[in-house]
This record gives sequence, C-alpha cells and structure tokens, in this order.
Amino acid sequence: MNRSRRNFIKYGIYIGGTVAGTAAWVRGVRYPGLQFEPVDIQTVHRVNDAVWRADGAFPLEIGSTVSTWRAHSPEPKVVILGSGEFEFQINNIHRQATLQPVGDGMVIDENKSGLSRRVRGTLGSSPLALEWRFPDTKNYRFAAIGDTGGDEELRWVLARSEQLGASFLLHLGDFNYQAGDYDRAQAAFDEAAIPTYITLGNHDYRAPGENNLIDVFTQRLGPLNHAFTLGGIQFINLDTAANTLPFSAGNRGRLLNRLSASTPGVRQRIAFHHRPLIDPRDEPEGGSAHDIGGLGEGRWLHKRLRKLGVDTALNGHIHMKLEFDNEGLFTYISGQGLAHADIVNKNKRQVAQILLGDVTPNEPTNFQWAALEMPLIAHCNERLIKILEKSGRGDLTKALAQACQRS
Ligand SMILES: [Fe+2]
Repeated sequence: MNRSRRNFIKYGIYIGGTVAGTAAWVRGVRYPGLQFEPVDIQTVHRVNDAVWRADGAFPLEIGSTVSTWRAHSPEPKVVILGSGEFEFQINNIHRQATLQPVGDGMVIDENKSGLSRRVRGTLGSSPLALEWRFPDTKNYRFAAIGDTGGDEELRWVLARSEQLGASFLLHLGDFNYQAGDYDRAQAAFDEAAIPTYITLGNHDYRAPGENNLIDVFTQRLGPLNHAFTLGGIQFINLDTAANTLPFSAGNRGRLLNRLSASTPGVRQRIAFHHRPLIDPRDEPEGGSAHDIGGLGEGRWLHKRLRKLGVDTALNGHIHMKLEFDNEGLFTYISGQGLAHADIVNKNKRQVAQILLGDVTPNEPTNFQWAALEMPLIAHCNERLIKILEKSGRGDLTKALAQACQRS
C-alpha cells in the first residue's frame, strides 16, 4: 500500500471516529447494551393531506384505519391542519375530562368508551386545536407505585388506586417481568378506570432474554422523558432505566435544559423515575445497592433537579416503601407493586402500601401511604410460585395454590 493511500485510510478513520464521538456526545450512549439513545415518541403525524401535531399525546402504530393516539399527560392537545372530515381515537383520557376545540373547523361528535374518546369533525382553512381539560386541577389525588409486573397485580393496583380516590396513577416502572407482560400491561392500562403515566423501568427496557424493548415502549406507552403541569404541580418523568454517558446527553438532558426554575404557574416540581438516585439502606438485599449507579450519574441528576427547584422524587426499583431526605430532594420509594411483602409476612398481615399525593391550592403536595390490600387471587401466577420456591418459601405455594383453585 502506498503512503498516500495509507494516509487516506488513517484520516478516514480519524474523521469517522470524530463524527461518531460527536454523535455519542450529543445523543448519549446508553449502557448496559451500548446503544445510542433511541428515537423517542413521534409527535407529528400525517394522515392523507392533513398534518397532526400533538402535545401530551402521540400516535400509536397500530394497523387500524382510524388514527389512534395515546395521551401521556392529563391535558393533551392535538392540532390538526388540513381540510375535509377527520376521525380519530385517543386513549388514556380521564373519563370526566372535557374536550375544548379551538380554531377553524368543528367537532361533530365525541364518543366515550372507558378511557378512550372517538372524535369526528370537519376542518376549516386554519388549524383546529383539540384540548382535553382535566375535571378538577385544583383539588386532586394521584397514586404512585412501581414494580407491579403486568399481571393481575397490576390490575389490582389500578383498581385500588381508583378505589382510594386517585384521578391518575404514576407508574414508577417495571411492569414487564415475564413474557407477555407488555401486552397484558397495555391492556390493563387501557381498560383501567383512571389514566396512567409511566416512567420506564430497567425490566421494561430489557426483557429477561435481553431483548431491547425500548422501541416497544415508545411506540405503545409513552415518551422516555417528558413533563406536564397540573394545578401548579409540574411532574417530570426521567428515564433512569439504563445509564447514560455523558449524563447530560440525549432527550433527558434536553428536557432538563428546556425546563426552567421560574415557570409561571408552577409552584412545585416533582420528579418521577424508576431507579432512585441513592439507595438509603445500610444493608441492601443481595449486598448490592439499588440506586442508579453509573459513575456519578445520581449525583449529577441530584444537582440538576435541585437547580430546577425539584423538591420531591418518586421512585420504584426497591421493592419496599421508604421515604428519606436526600439533601433537599425528599424521596419516596414506592416499590411494593407486587405486594410480595404480604405473602412472606410472618404475621400473616397485609403490609404492602401504595403512595398517595394530595394536591390542594397554594399548598405543597401532601403525601401519605395507604394499604394496598391486594387480594390473594391477584398473586395466582407461575412467576410467584417459582420465586417462592427459589427463596425457600415453598411452604407458601400450597396455600396459594388452594386459594387460586377456589377463585
Ligand atoms: Fe427495577
């Protein structure tokens, strides 16, 4: 090989490496799995000649003739620019939310079915904005819990949240513990009585067989990072399912840069993300801390969140109920979504709890724990039987099997 050819290859490798390095710096590298950050939800959609833009909702990729969207915030807005008639469906809308059309065109009808709305209308010459208003933004309650899996435990968590008066559930990640959980969880979310806004868990990101499921999440359930404000409280969803390098890269970094510590109408900021920034336990089970880890990523996030004025973090990942002050960031860990604590409790008492937040005007959100009261039949699944046998509690499987047989 002559010298000029060698130099050409050398410079080619150098330039290629620089371009790849810059891309990694901007987009970020997620690990484990070593991948660039994936494409997040799409918010722009074209149907024939019409252009649809959404804020707080995204189009689902399903083979239906009717355009179908899913809301990932309580007051989503869809703006349509085009002409003629339109028809679409939007899921995950509170049953008492009201539709407010603004702009050119009109809504012919809106049919409700559970958390879904089907809207028909006609378009004018300028855009038509369709916005749903939450029933009560001044006084409302929400529930927060993670680590439910996608089976009957999740359905109970959704039902119990509604029973406790919650207007929506913040799912703190890990609804996917076994094959089929993504489908089951999506059905449970769609069929629930209240909407759910979900942060991505490590099990939702990588399946037991190590398949990367991140695209499935963004195509079916929501964004990896987003924020919404309801009644003066800003809820900030951050992706902590995997680690990111550099910490400030990708959509999470962009969201944190976009948010401001002095937004009019926002009086409190609450972050919700799956893995906690620190594990407060002196002796974590298995000896390894269940924090975000990642070469100082937790420290960096703590600094960014405090700078933004976030005073509360809601997390899962640790299958316990914990609360502690992490240097100004009051942290609740609500990870008893499987209620296994009820099963292995020696006193045979139900101990699993779910976190509730109460919002009232001009006050910081008031948090309290409530009994989850999960019935035994919600535990009727193969996965739990295997866990009990593995953890030396095979004696419980007989009682459970009898209860499940009766149901
Ligand atoms: Fe987890």
